[in-house]
Amino acid sequence: MKNKFLLNPEITHLNHGSFGACPKSIFEDYQKWQLELERNTVQFITKTGEDQLKIAKQALGHFINCDWDDLIYVTNPTTAMNIVIKGLELNEGDEILTTNHEYGAIDRTWKYYCAKTGSKYVQQNISIPIQSKEKFLTEFWLGLTPKTKYIFLSQITSSTALIFPVKEICDKAKELGLTTIIDGAHVPNHIPLNLKELNPDIYTGACHKWMLTPKGSSFLYVSKALQDQLDPLVISWGYDAEHPSNSKYQDYHQYQGTRDFSAFLTIPKALQFFKENDWETKKKECRDLLKHYYPIVANELGKKPICPVTNEFLGQICSIPINTSDNIALHDLLYDKYKIEIPVFKLNDSTYIRISFQAYNSGHEIEYLLDSIKDIKSTTNLIY
Ligand SMILES: Cc1ncc(COP(=O)(O)O)c(C=O)c1O
Repeated sequence: MKNKFLLNPEITHLNHGSFGACPKSIFEDYQKWQLELERNTVQFITKTGEDQLKIAKQALGHFINCDWDDLIYVTNPTTAMNIVIKGLELNEGDEILTTNHEYGAIDRTWKYYCAKTGSKYVQQNISIPIQSKEKFLTEFWLGLTPKTKYIFLSQITSSTALIFPVKEICDKAKELGLTTIIDGAHVPNHIPLNLKELNPDIYTGACHKWMLTPKGSSFLYVSKALQDQLDPLVISWGYDAEHPSNSKYQDYHQYQGTRDFSAFLTIPKALQFFKENDWETKKKECRDLLKHYYPIVANELGKKPICPVTNEFLGQICSIPINTSDNIALHDLLYDKYKIEIPVFKLNDSTYIRISFQAYNSGHEIEYLLDSIKDIKSTTNLIY
């Protein structure tokens, strides 16, 4: 499987989670679109490319079960969340209920707009280790007050790599009349995603992570009722359009002037790749590998898994607490000396090492990581 990707074979790549990896055939499709854009630029940007974008949205809409015109393509989930947070009505005293496991760039975006509007970002503590869904829900809803207006959380968290029970949260939020905003950056093609069933108000996901498309392809989904509330982040020709389409949402957000949108057009090719390569089986193999190795690596680090080692909380990534004197030096040593690419993050006074299991990884790469950890423990005091 590694041969189907472009990854440097000299590196043990255990960080699919951060930016993904693109198979050769999908990358070739990307380059095919780029060539077409360069050969016939005007037609491509103003006409044919637009038709292809619609095809790519229809394919994605079918895959995650939503209407294609509720989707717009964006470069990354942070951009999507900037559109949302800037556009939503936030007044003095309003509260956004979230967790203390959220992605740093999006935490920063909320805090920026909260400071401007006098609203409050409530980062509810979700204790580690996670014991059960019920305990999670109890802890989360402790943050609810009469001022809560928006619910925001990740479906799979970044630093702690946990699957959060967003279905239960969306259902209860609906009953309470609260708007739900879900950060699903890691979700598409990692764990099942069915937007009609989940029924969030707003959802963002990355395609360049587990959908294996080239970098800079992500989406924003907004339910029809909220679409007109969101102004574009970049005012361009679709604002006060001369020839408006029947969707202001599409006009406002999709056309952003001259840019290369080839990465978005590779979605149909990616879906074909999954079919041709029996991807559901590959995903299951990765989850099995994770469940086997998670307790073993944790044990080597003198720690325990941070949640029950089941599909309820874990997909193809897991984070293990690690005692290190310097997380950046440890990351760099793992890369420079052992040629292992793996993130070592800090979150809420803890440090975690996060392993991604993708179809191009194998058990002996995790054995090699274990050997490298043992070597670091015996030769340095970076891990204690
Ligand atoms: C939970 C989560 N949200 C959002 C993102 C978006 O990343 P970015 O917009 O920086 O590409 C990531 C990336 O890893 C993530 O893990």
